[in-house]
Amino acid sequence: MASEHEYSKVESDILIIGAGGAGLRAAIEASENNKSVVIVSKSILGKAHTVMAEGGIAASLGNVDKEDNWKVHFADTYIEGVYINNWKMVEIFAKEAPDRIYELERYGALFDRTPDGRILQRAFGAHTYRRLCHVGDRTGLELIRTLEDKVLHTNARILDEMVITKIVVEGGKVKGAIGFSMREGRFYVFQCKALIIASGGSGRVFKVTSNSWESTGDGLAIAFRAGAELKDMEMVQFHPTGMVWPPSVRGLLVTEGVRGEGGILVNKEGERFMLRYSPKKKELDARDVVARCIYREITEGRGTEHGAVYLDITHKGFKFIYDKLPSMYNQFKDFAGVDISKERMEVAPTTHYHMGGIKVDPEEESTNVPGLFAAGEAASGLHGANRLGGNSLADLLVFGRRAGIGASHYADGVKFSPISEDEVQKEIERVEQFTKRKNPINPYELIEELRQNMSSKVGIIRNEKDLTDALSVIRQIKGKLDRIGVAGGVRFNPGLIACLELENMVQNAELMVWAAIERKESRGAHTRSDYPGTKDEFLKNIVFKLENGQAKMTMEPVLKPPKELEEILSEGEKTNA
Ligand code: FUM
Repeated sequence: MASEHEYSKVESDILIIGAGGAGLRAAIEASENNKSVVIVSKSILGKAHTVMAEGGIAASLGNVDKEDNWKVHFADTYIEGVYINNWKMVEIFAKEAPDRIYELERYGALFDRTPDGRILQRAFGAHTYRRLCHVGDRTGLELIRTLEDKVLHTNARILDEMVITKIVVEGGKVKGAIGFSMREGRFYVFQCKALIIASGGSGRVFKVTSNSWESTGDGLAIAFRAGAELKDMEMVQFHPTGMVWPPSVRGLLVTEGVRGEGGILVNKEGERFMLRYSPKKKELDARDVVARCIYREITEGRGTEHGAVYLDITHKGFKFIYDKLPSMYNQFKDFAGVDISKERMEVAPTTHYHMGGIKVDPEEESTNVPGLFAAGEAASGLHGANRLGGNSLADLLVFGRRAGIGASHYADGVKFSPISEDEVQKEIERVEQFTKRKNPINPYELIEELRQNMSSKVGIIRNEKDLTDALSVIRQIKGKLDRIGVAGGVRFNPGLIACLELENMVQNAELMVWAAIERKESRGAHTRSDYPGTKDEFLKNIVFKLENGQAKMTMEPVLKPPKELEEILSEGEKTNA
């Protein structure tokens, strides 16, 4: 056995990895179910990527457009997911989202208001009605503030700046997790009855992204290594509007709320080009459509000198803009020296969201590994091939709560059993080896190569050659992982975090590209120039699982919605046509 390393032990009924919206909402529910809860998060509490979701939370309250209801929200979500969503998840989601909004309001969220005092809702792309409940353009921030406040009044214990490196599965069941505190430089062993992964997405695999530094898909990678299935990995959303200039902020989100509040897209010739591509929905067509149109304008030479198009909301005037979009005003003023009430913004698509992730049961968010649950962006199934704006904040409220319930039910039937000492010591050795290698390869160089490779070859428009080249680069990087390393120890060592994140990113990138090669059609966010259009033979979900240390791929036929939902969809198709 390896030499003894010291560590701290923490025990809880439920361990939650991630302190974003899904993790916090799950914690509230588990705590209300009288479970002891520990939340761990890689970044500091309050700094989750959820705060970057700006424009709103989608729920069919019907406060502004009274015709709205769950059926229309169901149809919009399923149709824009291009029929590979899990229909049951979409149904639950559309039905429960309004309750989660009112609940959030009871917890203390202060939404913008209609003149008669109800929650105000704004337009967003491909939502039939004005549906986005919002707090200016800081909705994610308000959501996190509210949930955090609620969680601090529960029994949940929060350990932030904590990196989880392994989920422990023994005897076919989850027993806990192993990680280390960046702050203390100390290893921790978490023993639990059930574990919820709510650690967000993988956008940082790409060079140009709206995602914050934490989004390296750690949850997906550790779940996969623990035996969980990953689904729809090829489905990566490119948000139409990210900042472009100056280069230091390239990719930073420019909320869809700008278009929702009347902003228009213009090419360098002054043409409002969405009128040509999408005369009915214009700037508020689905994200994949608008992103492809912008991409085309730029690649066909109608973009700006910085490789962008213009987003113009100057016609609304300073008061309206500062009232509705204060963060956008300040973001452009502070970072780009642009006053968006007088000047146009330069924007281009940015990697924004991963529809793929851990495969979960629609009702309780359990996975194929007993005791393991997932919610939020780390999970898959709700959004299919494309996500509607605002659906992610609603997703993490609806399914964060359900994961908390699911994990609580599961924990009721389980007893604690200790994690083997051998397992702990081996994992500590594995992590520490990154700081002990002689003449190691610098992980940052490989991260840069990986990100560059993904952004240039696995972007909005894909083809077989680029994807195959990208996969070969990823596998070359993978071949070097056993030589990466950094100086220093475990305490506050960003280089060590980079080594661990690189392993996870390579794992996720390989599956993203492998699946993208296999899906020989275009569907939602996955566009293949060599296979235009959808094909019925791909009405399937691509699923990966680790078997004997090797990733195995299967294509699972999509479950068909029942007749009553098919009827709702037919209605929706007429409206969406
Ligand atoms: O554009 C936005 O404000 C992003 C929202 C979302 O992705 O849901």
